[in-house]
Amino acid sequence: MSGSDREDRSPAARPQTQVVGAGRRREWTHGADGRGVVNPPVWRASTILYDSVADLRAAAGRDTHHRWFYGRRGTPTQWSLADALSELEPGAEGTFLYPSGVAAVSAALLSVLSPGDELLLVDSAYDPTRAFADGLLARFGVTTRFYDPLAGGGIADLFTPATRAVLMESPGSLTFEVQDVPAICAAARGAGVATILDNTWATPLNFPAIAAGVDLSVLACTKYVVGHSDAMLGSVTAAPGRFARLRDTSFQLGLVASPDDAWLGARGLRTMAVRLKHHGAAALKVARWLAERPEVATVLHPALPSCPGHDLFLRDFRGASGLFAFGLRDATEASRAALIDALDLFGIGYSWGGYESLALPVDPARHRTAVPWDSPHRLVRLQIGLEDADDLIADLDRGLAAHRRVLGGS
Ligand SMILES: Cc1ncc(COP(=O)(O)O)c(C=O)c1O
Repeated sequence: MSGSDREDRSPAARPQTQVVGAGRRREWTHGADGRGVVNPPVWRASTILYDSVADLRAAAGRDTHHRWFYGRRGTPTQWSLADALSELEPGAEGTFLYPSGVAAVSAALLSVLSPGDELLLVDSAYDPTRAFADGLLARFGVTTRFYDPLAGGGIADLFTPATRAVLMESPGSLTFEVQDVPAICAAARGAGVATILDNTWATPLNFPAIAAGVDLSVLACTKYVVGHSDAMLGSVTAAPGRFARLRDTSFQLGLVASPDDAWLGARGLRTMAVRLKHHGAAALKVARWLAERPEVATVLHPALPSCPGHDLFLRDFRGASGLFAFGLRDATEASRAALIDALDLFGIGYSWGGYESLALPVDPARHRTAVPWDSPHRLVRLQIGLEDADDLIADLDRGLAAHRRVLGGS
């Protein structure tokens, strides 16, 4: 691709080609002499300077979308990444960036909810999403009901006249149930209910959410978009008719992603398709190996039949990413900790989507209310990074040996 205007490019059919070209506009990379750089630079700004008072006044009356106005409205560094994310979602109207994934979830909810409304929130949602609903939304008069991740189109039975939004996360955090997103969206649309999907696990490359009927598609870009565990960033991509309210809400909240972090996100995006292929293939290899181990009672990976909603994964997703969990048979708290502590190649820490592998003890029961999580098997969540899968398997073999030793076995 040359550095031509976005409008001049032929639409790229395949995601791997799309992530290379998306969001690149000549006006953001080239100087007056016609030469330019490949990536938009980091434009840091608070003040934007105007030519005259008349120019200043004219700017205040115009739509500021992708126009220099004031630093809080962004610069080409943020606009370029926002455009790129919209281009990856066929049918999308626009994207707004946020300083974190949690900020993106919160802004999406606030853009569609008002006091007196009811939110339906999937029971397997990311814990801070639940906390936002139970905390700030409740304080401002929005009630939340939690629903079974496997509700599918049957969610229509839960709608009341007050229901204004459904927030899905598919697969679910920690427990990985795959939801019937198209059926839920169809039911919601029929009832005038807005749909929000936390699509961080799949990204638009493996699940184009707007095309599936979602109104607001949320990414914690901190994960696969940034891809290197060194920046916090979020995005919401809106279906037609949903963007103006999202943008107004976000402007009123004063939300702005830093240009430096947006730049890191744009840099990460260029390799996201290639990285996801590795994450996906390596995670599946590790998951299949774990599924054969006697110490492992269950593997919660959407591409394996043991995962609830596996049939929907096969129907709707183009591929898997690198995050899944497994349940340890007969584990104690100490044996699970011993397994994780014995790993050399897996870091112990929150987040995921970076190039390095991570392992975490997770306990979903305390985050569930609609459908109790009563599995007796202690869970370990793995983020499979870009290491060689066979090295990770050897490391996990050592970890399982440590778990057995604590239990008094060989
Ligand atoms: C599914 C999901 N959504 C949202 C978030 C929040 O993203 P951030 O950490 O950027 O606020 C996370 C973080 O772990 C997540 O796992």
